[in-house]
Amino acid sequence: MQILDGKIAAAAVKENLKKEVDILLAQNRRAPHLAVILVGNNGASETYVASKQKNCHEIGFISTLIRLDENVSEEGLLSEIKKLNEDASVDGILVQLPLPKHISEKKVIESINPNKDVDGFHPVSAGNLVLGIPTFIPATPYGIMLMLEHYNIPTKGKHAVVIGRSNIVGRPMSILLSSNLPHGNCTVTICHSHTPNLEEICAQGDIVVAALGKPGFVKANMVKDGAVIIDVGITRIEDATKKKGFRISGDVDFEEVAPKSSYITPVPGGVGLMTIAGLLKNTLVAYKKAEGIEA
Ligand SMILES: NC(=O)c1ccc[n+]([C@@H]2O[C@H](COP(=O)([O-])OP(=O)(O)OC[C@H]3O[C@@H](n4cnc5c(N)ncnc54)[C@H](OP(=O)(O)O)[C@@H]3O)[C@@H](O)[C@H]2O)c1
Repeated sequence: MQILDGKIAAAAVKENLKKEVDILLAQNRRAPHLAVILVGNNGASETYVASKQKNCHEIGFISTLIRLDENVSEEGLLSEIKKLNEDASVDGILVQLPLPKHISEKKVIESINPNKDVDGFHPVSAGNLVLGIPTFIPATPYGIMLMLEHYNIPTKGKHAVVIGRSNIVGRPMSILLSSNLPHGNCTVTICHSHTPNLEEICAQGDIVVAALGKPGFVKANMVKDGAVIIDVGITRIEDATKKKGFRISGDVDFEEVAPKSSYITPVPGGVGLMTIAGLLKNTLVAYKKAEGIEA
């Protein structure tokens, strides 16, 4: 069993991005710029946004954080997005989800200029992904593809089982793995909460991607010997023994499953770090498009 280490794979992606930025700056060009909007002060969102900013700075991107009050109106948020859409110095726009209940996530996502949609959630990006047209890929599935690439995991002709069909993880993941890409060409089964005999289906997977948000859901009896296990789940579980009062749990029972697997991502330290790598790559693509530089 080998650990798919998000720290190592993300560092490799970031090193290459930093080299590209250094070349751009040496050519007297501006740095790529990611703008993040954070509404309210949800603890997990604060952590994600801080990490995104830190990673931007590490590789020489500009990052701007726009904080809006929890009670901001939908119109207020949309008008901030409009300003960023029109600001030529901003390459990528990310609105940290989830949003307060009185704001429509759908409207917000649709209001982002598709050329700046570095989260890859806009219908234009989603449509392009389905059609195999180069586009912004949602950061988490993109990060998983980068992880497979970094560790050179064979995928062609393999049976991949994806658990979860959300628009941000499961569904785009299933499309990428089934696409004719260097780390695609899998036969994909996508499972969800209405899938009967999920355990048997999961046990047929050469590759299992668990993205359902149920801590420790995937047990040893649900995986075949030598399977590649990608754990996307991130759930905060109260734990008084921890300084922060909680621990993070993935969707895979790591202790049970790891010994049966050929490769496995840990939580934390796996997919989460790759998600940021995917976001940074998307931001550079947006920058190059804006600057008319060939990708
Ligand atoms: N590592 C990262 O960077 C990253 C990024 C994004 C999300 N995540 C984590 O990944 C997990 C999934 O996120 P998400 O946004 O995709 O969640 P989501 O929108 O809640 O979707 C969960 C999916 O799992 C399915 N599901 C739920 N319970 C199930 C069960 N018992 N059996 C089979 N399928 C089941 C749901 O099926 P239905 O469609 O039938 O309801 C749904 O399709 C969460 O823990 C989230 O925190 C991590």
